[in-house]
Amino acid sequence: MVIAAVFANGCANGEGQLVRRGRGFESCGGLGGEERRPRKGEDVSEQISIPWASATAQAYLQRVGMPVAGLEPRAIADRVRVLAEEHEAWVDGSCLTFYAGTNTMSPMARAMLASSMGTRPSMGHPGDKYQPGVRFLEEVETLAIDACRRLFRARFAEVRLPSGSSANLSVFMALTRAGDRILALPEWAGGHPTHREEGMAGLHGLVIRDVPFDPAQMQIDLEGLRRVAREIQPRLIIVGASLVLFPYPLGDVRAIAEEVGALLMYDGAHLAGIIAGGQFQDPLAEGAHVFTSSTYKTLGGPPGGLVLTNDPEIARRIDAVAYPGMTANFDCARVAALAVAAAELLEFGPAYARDCLANAQALARALAAEGFEVVAAAHGFTRSHHIAVDVHGLGGGALVARRLEAANIILSKFILPRDARGPAGQMSGLRLGLQEVTRRGLGVAEMPGIARFMRRVVLEGEDPAAVGAEVRALRQRYARVQYCFETPEAAGAAVLHDIPRLAVGEAVVQLRPGT
Ligand SMILES: Cc1ncc(COP(=O)(O)O)c(C=O)c1O
Repeated sequence: MVIAAVFANGCANGEGQLVRRGRGFESCGGLGGEERRPRKGEDVSEQISIPWASATAQAYLQRVGMPVAGLEPRAIADRVRVLAEEHEAWVDGSCLTFYAGTNTMSPMARAMLASSMGTRPSMGHPGDKYQPGVRFLEEVETLAIDACRRLFRARFAEVRLPSGSSANLSVFMALTRAGDRILALPEWAGGHPTHREEGMAGLHGLVIRDVPFDPAQMQIDLEGLRRVAREIQPRLIIVGASLVLFPYPLGDVRAIAEEVGALLMYDGAHLAGIIAGGQFQDPLAEGAHVFTSSTYKTLGGPPGGLVLTNDPEIARRIDAVAYPGMTANFDCARVAALAVAAAELLEFGPAYARDCLANAQALARALAAEGFEVVAAAHGFTRSHHIAVDVHGLGGGALVARRLEAANIILSKFILPRDARGPAGQMSGLRLGLQEVTRRGLGVAEMPGIARFMRRVVLEGEDPAAVGAEVRALRQRYARVQYCFETPEAAGAAVLHDIPRLAVGEAVVQLRPGT
């Protein structure tokens, strides 16, 4: 995020514009706005401002930006530390988190993310790096690639990209050119901004048309897709969204893609963990040419991106976009944490994914029984770990999510198909993901009680703070992250060096004979 300073002798007027007051600024031409540069020695510490942000954001910056502006350097550092502790005590210690795009990492993955590898550059392929001093990092990278390939039954895995968004951009850069036509799900069907005009696809110059979607089935409209694909002859068809209740008919979509000479990309950002656990569709086996993902949602790893494919030419192009294209160096601590998370899913993924789906089914039923309008009731609510609830009659998703947050229940507003006809920005729904509470160890037996908490806050208007105390008490009964390895320390091993090692450079050969 770009945060502009309102300099010592400037201030925001009623419309949120910078107003020059007195001396101090030099101005020069820019992209159309008036750039103001502080003069040498000028105090720029008065207050931050984002003049183009929403009124709500501007009000926050007025309220919080004022006291923090000008803090002593040591006070900034101390305040950040306190905020991290408070965040952890609240969100990780007291809340039930159903926000779909998040998870908690295992203790071993967290330790790897905090390791010193993160600031060590290692450019190039393992075994042939530009820098010296990276032989241990090369083996970590090799282990991560191998674990991800095994997890998703893929020949090639790209692990260096820093986010799911950049994973998507890498596919666009590798497989399309500016001006190409692509098909992607519309926002009201859960389509992600990276597939659309305002995100990576648009920034890369692609021309986007909607994948037709049937709201009654919460599913791709195959006939409509065939028609539009024949009409526009897309280069790429993207299947994937931020709300996915049912598996997509990938085999049929692949047949359409082949008919018009398009490639098929599956964005499984939200689904990777349940795909890895074998409880959701297997995108590459069912026809996707390329499969992208985030690594911190159901996958339970650090924030990052992943691209998987079985096609050597696609893999070669993605590799070249990743380096030297979009990254110089990458965060090897993140890749180490990803390797641990992937290894944990290789071991515990089937049970974790099964429990995520069972919990989603149990909570959807319980919410419906408590009087909520759960989306896709006629189709069994969901076959993934996601649930959608229509709260348009209860004030909309934003209002309801805020009330629940006050009761220590974290989830998000979400756009539903009905919002396609409403004002821009309207979100009638709530989206819930069951991955984090499942990893915390809550099971189907706890779901009716959670639905009752939500009924009391949302449908009965009970004081959120009172319900929140009960939520905290429930949450605190589940302190340990499940479906993961114990750290060597917790398991009683003396030092990390006790772990059996492979000789450096032999990892792939030994772990994957014949591949
Ligand atoms: C479908 C989909 N694709 C891509 C992304 C982007 O992932 P990231 O947050 O890792 O950039 C998201 C993020 O939530 C998503 O929902």
